[in-house]
Amino acid sequence: MAPIESAKKKRAAIRRGLLAWYRREARDLPWRRTKDPYAVWLSEIMLQQTRVDQGTPYFERFIAAFPTVQALAAAKDAQVLKLWEGLGYYSRARNLHRAAKIVAHEMDGAFPATAEAWRALPGVGRYTAGAIASIAFDEPVAVLDGNVIRVLSRIFDITESTDDTRTRDRLWEIAETLVPQKSPGDFNQAMMELGARVCTPRAPQCAECPVRLHCDALSKGVQEQRPVRKKKAATPHYEYVVGVIPKNGRYLLAKRPDNGLLGGMWEFPGGPVLSGETHQAALKRILREEFGVTVKPGGLIAVVNHAYSHFKVTMNVYRCDWISGTPTPAAHTKMKWVPRSRFANYAFPKANHKFLDLL
Ligand code: ADE
Repeated sequence: MAPIESAKKKRAAIRRGLLAWYRREARDLPWRRTKDPYAVWLSEIMLQQTRVDQGTPYFERFIAAFPTVQALAAAKDAQVLKLWEGLGYYSRARNLHRAAKIVAHEMDGAFPATAEAWRALPGVGRYTAGAIASIAFDEPVAVLDGNVIRVLSRIFDITESTDDTRTRDRLWEIAETLVPQKSPGDFNQAMMELGARVCTPRAPQCAECPVRLHCDALSKGVQEQRPVRKKKAATPHYEYVVGVIPKNGRYLLAKRPDNGLLGGMWEFPGGPVLSGETHQAALKRILREEFGVTVKPGGLIAVVNHAYSHFKVTMNVYRCDWISGTPTPAAHTKMKWVPRSRFANYAFPKANHKFLDLL
């Protein structure tokens, strides 16, 4: 182990080690073959909350459909949502689309050139702005996401909870002092890449790490106890009923409001079961009060479990016979009877996809 090294030497060694490792080891990813700010921007939005292996096919389909910011600005909401279907956190898609219209129509198609200017666009926070500005414009600005927090909290053995604002501020400061003037985008991506492939949450591969000699947590053997997190409250769990209601070869679907969870997506009508209520009573009540139709609940089609960021649901999906009533949504924006053969044109939440194939 190196004797106590000066802070400045340590930073220089970390930069050198990470950059050399990245040049050897970086994965060949589609958005790394270009400096097109549009492609870099799209990749950074998609890769928030999404792993590279999951996000890559979405990136490729999206950029093939909308190769430029002008093409995205001209797209219909439903097309954009359909290409995001299954990725989750759909407000990312709505903000991206809004921002594309701003760039195309109010900024003459010219992208902002600095991290600060990027932050004026919807959906672009400090992380995304830093990533785009450093990768596409070589601006020496930092990034801090979950991977980078883990890497830095280990290298600098941060013992305070990384959920605290003060610790986050300190980590941003460390990241800003580390980012080099030359190749800031490679350096930032090297930290993300190290976090994803070597400095993993559990069982980090320290023997493979290019900066192991400079890692304070490793030198104390506490790497697996970093980052320190606050204990999370247990996630709530909800019991839902969902009605699959056929009529003349079509199924009743409802469109969710544009803002909020799963904004703008289409789904089978349903809602939460009250405590003590039977599934059948819940279906009748919810379909009447929330969707304006009277139904007779039939057989169970599927029981689907799905986890969202802040809660979990169990969806009990029942076939129901339509008895009467013109569909009239209370909280949804519209409802439609849709033939099975047209489902491919509608963006459904993942939890609905888990039983669509059974219909
Ligand atoms: N996660 C977020 N941004 C990324 C990037 N540019 N490369 C790999 N993983 C990432």
